[in-house]
Amino acid sequence: MTSDRREFVRSAALAGAALAFPGAAWLERARLDEPAAPLRRLPPGAEDGEDYWRLVRSQFLIAPRGIYFNTGTIGASPRPVLDAVLRHMTAFETVFDAEAVDLDALRRSVGGLVGAPPHTLAFTRNTTEAMSWIAAGLDFRPGDEIVMTTHEHVGGMCPWQAAARRHDLVLTQFALPVPPTGAGEILDAWRRALTPRTRVLMISHVLFTNGLIQPVRELCALARARGIITAIDGAHPPGMLRTNLADLGCDFYASSPHKWLLAPKGTGLLYVSEPWLDRLWPTIVSGGWDSLADKAVRFDRKGTVNDSLYAGFQAAVDFHMLIGPERVERRVRWLGDRLYDGLSRIAGVQLKSAGTPAIRAPLVSFTVDGWTTDDLIKALWERAMVRVRHVAEYDYHWVRLSTHVYNTPEEVDRVVALVAELAARRS
Ligand SMILES: Cc1ncc(COP(=O)(O)O)c(C=O)c1O
Repeated sequence: MTSDRREFVRSAALAGAALAFPGAAWLERARLDEPAAPLRRLPPGAEDGEDYWRLVRSQFLIAPRGIYFNTGTIGASPRPVLDAVLRHMTAFETVFDAEAVDLDALRRSVGGLVGAPPHTLAFTRNTTEAMSWIAAGLDFRPGDEIVMTTHEHVGGMCPWQAAARRHDLVLTQFALPVPPTGAGEILDAWRRALTPRTRVLMISHVLFTNGLIQPVRELCALARARGIITAIDGAHPPGMLRTNLADLGCDFYASSPHKWLLAPKGTGLLYVSEPWLDRLWPTIVSGGWDSLADKAVRFDRKGTVNDSLYAGFQAAVDFHMLIGPERVERRVRWLGDRLYDGLSRIAGVQLKSAGTPAIRAPLVSFTVDGWTTDDLIKALWERAMVRVRHVAEYDYHWVRLSTHVYNTPEEVDRVVALVAELAARRS
């Protein structure tokens, strides 16, 4: 980078930072041209004050001129992840210096993180692809019923729509209470939705609409007792909530580590529980597709892929472990709770997320009286470049804000103050 360009980047970053957060000079560090100070591992249980989280934030390239509150759609990868991808890709293109990615080691690392034996995990590009493998890989009888809520993302839902059309199945969607008040009422709603023909429950672990953490363990037990298959849309939990797939007791789990785990875009995960390893039909096949002894690894036989993404995936798991899953979860939920509590004190704000922190992931959804969601989102963007998600699906039209480790309490407070100002204007 030329010195002019470097100066431009520095001034732009500083101007943006000053605009958004007067006095927050540390944000200058979030620049493209200088490496951040390395993140240190804190001993378990050690205090992680704001200095520590500023150091975490400095590992990201996120431009300081805006507020990124949309990890629910896609995470921003830290520098070590980007470096690993670029290093691998660069070496690869030299042809002779190409480095192999140790996929077995990656499988072990990911397995440790999500609580699943490595041989039950296959790599996909995302949740959508993993869920498609599940829905396309099962045998059905006409009339079998698939049950899900009216809070499903197209990526988790459409694979079942296609299977239903193809095999003449029944697809039932039922409503959940909004805002939800407890796990008991969620379980009751699922129980009421079951029929003797129910063959599959497609359950979002965390709803993308309002961040509700569903009682997946209990739902899987309920399903198992009735011989019903459970396919979990786990796009969100890995990298956000501590997850133990073996303990959940589900048949299948689909995830997108490029969201909360901050892995490279285009890295996904499919978990196939032990009893299904030799029964799920593969959707994409190549040599070894029927080598049952290879367990889930046989689902990885799908032609040439971009190995550099897996190098980044490994770096993302390492980065997450460096901070520590417990510390990450505590921080992201603390920020989410701060956001929820701030919004709950504003007259005219209608919260759609659960009021009980135990069942609320850090995805907070709301509307504001007197404002259309489009106008509200536009106002937040124009005032502070706040990047949010418009949950327009099912005609809900909610604003959704997600908080991750790179967000700060100042960002949360700024957005709460902005919403208060906007709400007051139209009350
Ligand atoms: C609950 C849920 N399922 C599935 C998806 C699809 O994810 P991907 O595009 O990574 O397949 C999303 C994306 O936002 C989601 O929130």
